[in-house]
Amino acid sequence: MSVQTEQGSPKLPELKVNVATPANPVVGRVVESRQVTRGGRKSASFVRHVSFDVSGTPLAGSFRAGQSFGVLPPGTDERGKPHKLRLYSLACPSTGDDGEGNVVATVCKRVIDEHWETHKLFLGVASNYICDLQPGDEALLTGPSGKRFVLPEDPSKHDYIFFATGTGIAPFRAMVMDLLQAKADSRIVLIMGSPYTTDLLYDDEFTKWASECSNFRYLTAISREYVPEAGASKIYVQERLKTNADELVPMLMNPRTLVYVCGIAGMEVGIIRLMADLLPEDVLSQYVTVKDGAGPIALIDRKEFGRQVRAGSRLFLEVY
Ligand code: A2P
Repeated sequence: MSVQTEQGSPKLPELKVNVATPANPVVGRVVESRQVTRGGRKSASFVRHVSFDVSGTPLAGSFRAGQSFGVLPPGTDERGKPHKLRLYSLACPSTGDDGEGNVVATVCKRVIDEHWETHKLFLGVASNYICDLQPGDEALLTGPSGKRFVLPEDPSKHDYIFFATGTGIAPFRAMVMDLLQAKADSRIVLIMGSPYTTDLLYDDEFTKWASECSNFRYLTAISREYVPEAGASKIYVQERLKTNADELVPMLMNPRTLVYVCGIAGMEVGIIRLMADLLPEDVLSQYVTVKDGAGPIALIDRKEFGRQVRAGSRLFLEVY
C-alpha cells in the first residue's frame, strides 16, 4: 500500500499513526540520555539524545523515520489543566535505536528563556522534563504521527539533499541511518546549520559515516564563526548551494533527487530563493509551485512567502 501525494510526487509508504493516544498513552522507560553537541560549548544550548524502551507496547515496531512521537509531561499548567502533549521528531532509524523497533529516540534542546513581561526565568516545560530524565525513569508517550515527511516507498529510486538547522537534524539522522543500513543505491547529501561548530549535533557520527560511506556527503554551515577549513565561513545552509554548486546543482537538476528541509521557520525561504536563482523554470517548478500572479520568487516578500509559494512534488518541508 502507498500514499500518492501531489502529482508527480514519489509514492510514500502507508504508515501507522496514533497507535498510542493521549487518552491511552504507552509507558516508555528511558534507556539513554546523552549530550549530542560537540562539547566546549560557545553558546548556551543544551541538547540531548534521549531514548525510550517501548517494547511490549503498540508503539514498538510501528514507527518510521521522519515521523514524530508525543510526550506527555507530568503536572499541570498555570490554569490547573494537565500539560499538553508535545511532539518530538524521531531521531532513530525505523528499526529504533536497538535495531529491533523497541527503542524510540529524539533529540531535545532545553528551552531556557526570560518571561518578556516579568523578566523572570522561563524554563520550557516539556524540553526540560525530557532533558532531566534519567535512565530507568518512565514517561508517557503517544504516536506515531506524520505521514508526509518520510522517505519514499522505494528509497533507492532517489537521491537526497537534506537541509537541517538545529534540532531539525532529528528526522535526517533517522533517514540517513535507514538509507545507509539498507545500503540504498542513493546519493545522500546532508547540510547541517548551527551557530557555532560546538553546536553541531551528532557531528561525530555524521563525520564517521561520511568517511565510511562513499554515497554519503556531510556539509556544515556555521553562521556565527569563521571556519576556513570547512571551505566557507559564517553562512546559512542555503549558501552551500553556491559554495558547492558543482556537486549540488547537477543533483538538483537530476530527476532522481528529492529535497527535504527541516528546522527553523523561514529557512525554506532562503533555500527556495537560491534554487530559483540556480535552476531553470521547468526544473524549479518540480520543487515549488508559485501562486498565479505572485511574480518572480526573488521579489516575493518573506511574510507573503508561505501564502504564495508551496512545496512541489520533489520538496518536503517541515519548519517550525
Ligand atoms: P543565527 O542564529 O546565527 O542567525 P540553533 O537551532 O542551534 O539555534 O541553530 C539554528 C541555525 O539556523 C543557526 O545557525 C541560525 O543562525 C540559522 N538560521 C537562522 N535563521 C535562518 C534562516 N532564515 N535560514 C537559514 N538558517 C537560519
